[in-house]
Amino acid sequence: MSDRTESSDEFQFETRAIHVGQKYREETGAVIPPVFLTSTFAMGNPEGFDYTRSGNPNFRNLQETLASLESAQFATVFASGVSAITAVVSTLKSGDLVIAEENIYGCTFRLFDQVFAKFGVSIEYIDFTNLEHGQKILEKKPALVWIESPTNPSLKVLDIAAISEFCKKAGSSLVVDNTFASSFIQKPLELGADLSLLSTTKYSNGHSDCLGGVVCSNSQVWQDKMIFAQKALGLQPAPFDCWLISRGLKTQALRMERHSENALAFATFLEQNTQANFVRYPFLSSHPQHDIAKKQMRGGSGIVTADLGMDLEATKQLLSHLKLFTLAESLGGIESLVCHPASMTHASIPKQVRESVGITDSLVRFSVGIEHVDDLIDDVRAAISEVNG
Ligand SMILES: Cc1ncc(COP(=O)(O)O)c(C=O)c1O
Repeated sequence: MSDRTESSDEFQFETRAIHVGQKYREETGAVIPPVFLTSTFAMGNPEGFDYTRSGNPNFRNLQETLASLESAQFATVFASGVSAITAVVSTLKSGDLVIAEENIYGCTFRLFDQVFAKFGVSIEYIDFTNLEHGQKILEKKPALVWIESPTNPSLKVLDIAAISEFCKKAGSSLVVDNTFASSFIQKPLELGADLSLLSTTKYSNGHSDCLGGVVCSNSQVWQDKMIFAQKALGLQPAPFDCWLISRGLKTQALRMERHSENALAFATFLEQNTQANFVRYPFLSSHPQHDIAKKQMRGGSGIVTADLGMDLEATKQLLSHLKLFTLAESLGGIESLVCHPASMTHASIPKQVRESVGITDSLVRFSVGIEHVDDLIDDVRAAISEVNG
């Protein structure tokens, strides 16, 4: 395929993931674009590069691929998901209000609470599963509305199209953190969001070997702000990390299909064969927002959250007996991981706030990988038997 991608809309996701964003190969005939390990560029070069903080061929390739996969006109890449969040929030000014879903990623909460609050940005949290709360958007007309769907770690599924209607009426910009779903499973911009943000560290790269973030939009105004933030705040990624994420994206469709298949089987096992108080997975029919999930997601993705009905001590013991699920922060890689949100990813949220949104000591988050699912189920079955004696 040539480097021309203007007609890429005619191709399916799987084809675009492999063929879009593959420039800078012409001189050598390389099938895969190389890594451009250079900090600076000769003035007057035909592609207009100047300094890697504000652009590099590997950024441009990755941006082009991600924009295509998110059905966006524009994408700007950053050093991490948190850098992408920082870029968006840095566009606010003192006195601005953000209305956010009450169950958001711990570091997003920490950024709002401990960094941007100091600069006069105020945040209010609401439970977006109750759409009556959307009235608050109409009343307060916030600068930004911030949601994740599915949320980390409770896997609440929020009705992006319905929330975007409130935002349009209020003149507020809707940001959807699409990290848990991935570009393959969900397209926030098609559902009415203004920005789709991802930690590309997770399912975009998919191999747990680098960090990255992206903000996608269909707005030239937002794009200009993101390009400015990338350069002016020093939030740019490393060229090699972009190259790794570009490589990871080529197999995203295959990976997400297997993650979703495995996670559904794993969640069904937990629900039917253990003493769990509850098991949350968007594509389980017991999920409180299962209908919304079916409407806006093309699969359930790879995360399963469960309260396994054990006290803190027994929960921690269970985690230590797992052999295939490594106890680690992060998610979205080919290998299975397990996390205890209260003491790990969400430890930065005060205990009282954490528990009020359901992040209790017995909550466990599984990132179900693409190993054989029977092995994963056997692993958790054996660990439960060890704890129960
Ligand atoms: C939903 C969500 N958003 C953003 C981030 C931040 O991404 P990163 O770790 O790449 O900075 C994470 C990380 O776990 C996340 O789960």
